[in-house]
Amino acid sequence: MNDTFLKACRGEKTDYTPVWIMRQAGRYLAEYRNIRSKVEFLTLCKTPDLAAEVTIQPLEILNADAAILFSDILIPLEPMGIKLEFSESKGPIIHNPVKSERDIDNLRNINPDEELHFVIETIKILLKNIKVPLIGFSGAPFTLATYMIEGGSSKNFLKAKRMIYQSPESFHRLMELITDNTIRYLLSQIKAGVQAVQIFDSWAGTLSPLDFSLFALPYVKRIISAINNSVPVIYFAFNSSSMIELAKTSGADVIGLDWRIEVANAVERLGGDVSIQGNLDPCILFGTDEVIKERVSLILKGARKAKGHIFNLGHGILPETSVDKAILMVEAVHERSIR
Ligand code: CP3
Repeated sequence: MNDTFLKACRGEKTDYTPVWIMRQAGRYLAEYRNIRSKVEFLTLCKTPDLAAEVTIQPLEILNADAAILFSDILIPLEPMGIKLEFSESKGPIIHNPVKSERDIDNLRNINPDEELHFVIETIKILLKNIKVPLIGFSGAPFTLATYMIEGGSSKNFLKAKRMIYQSPESFHRLMELITDNTIRYLLSQIKAGVQAVQIFDSWAGTLSPLDFSLFALPYVKRIISAINNSVPVIYFAFNSSSMIELAKTSGADVIGLDWRIEVANAVERLGGDVSIQGNLDPCILFGTDEVIKERVSLILKGARKAKGHIFNLGHGILPETSVDKAILMVEAVHERSIR
């Protein structure tokens, strides 16, 4: 097994910088589009053979140092009682958004080993078939709460913020519930064998630092302490580079960075006792080969003093990306980081 990724998470010496790509299984791959032309997204997530197949596709094509379970952060909301749909044009839609105390009362605790058995099954298939570590994941409670309250993606997160500022007790109650269930979900992924987990806080960046500390971070901390160092944890709060010192107090082993911060600056602010992941702007993969290689080198150089560095994009790879550019990026990371 290639354990370079896990070593970098723990800050141990590696021969080169490991790399994987957020959304590495996805629409930029013809092999993925081919499977997706036959099944809907939710069906794909719930069919272990197919979910495992699309997880494996980018490993062979890109030569990535880690696999990420193919699923979605919204999947565990269904057994809680949320009616979820993925629309081709609008993305996720929740048909029964949380509006009132009653809606919170009606949410159920999940039993992931049973109700999300397809995820456990996918993990088991993958562990028999891959030679790199498998990353499990969940959404962070705040990000999941925004989907539950807004009913889908949002621009200003007005409904979620209205609940925060009008009835903070209700918001905290919802967050407690999501946190309890996220802990159950991640622990069952870990029991099934995932070797690291990433917590995606895609919308934390909509909060001020004060509100991030009050309404989002305590719940991420609770999840990370429940994981209790059984596997490395990556905490990726998108659009939150003004709050990386706060993100570090989550207790994560690895802080994910988007491209809005210079890596060397992040390392200086975070100190030498936490690893980092990131942070190439996904749009740089639309540049020339020379530009891509140059920018890869700059990030590698900026990360030299970090406890550990896992190379990644600063957010998910875009569906329009050419596969050749993604392959070139991975090669450049491997070649230019050899020690
Ligand atoms: O390869 C991987 O990264 C693993 C699989 C994965 C997906 N979604 C598959 C997916 C992971 C880790 C996610 C996380 C996720 N899902 C996040 C956090 C990361 C981020 O992007 O900030 C969020 C916010 C979601 C919610 C979500 N899922 C949205 C908003 C959308 C629609 C927008 C879009 O990118 O299409 C999805 C759909 C989705 N999730 C797709 C994939 C491959 C595209 C679905 C398709 O095939 O049509």
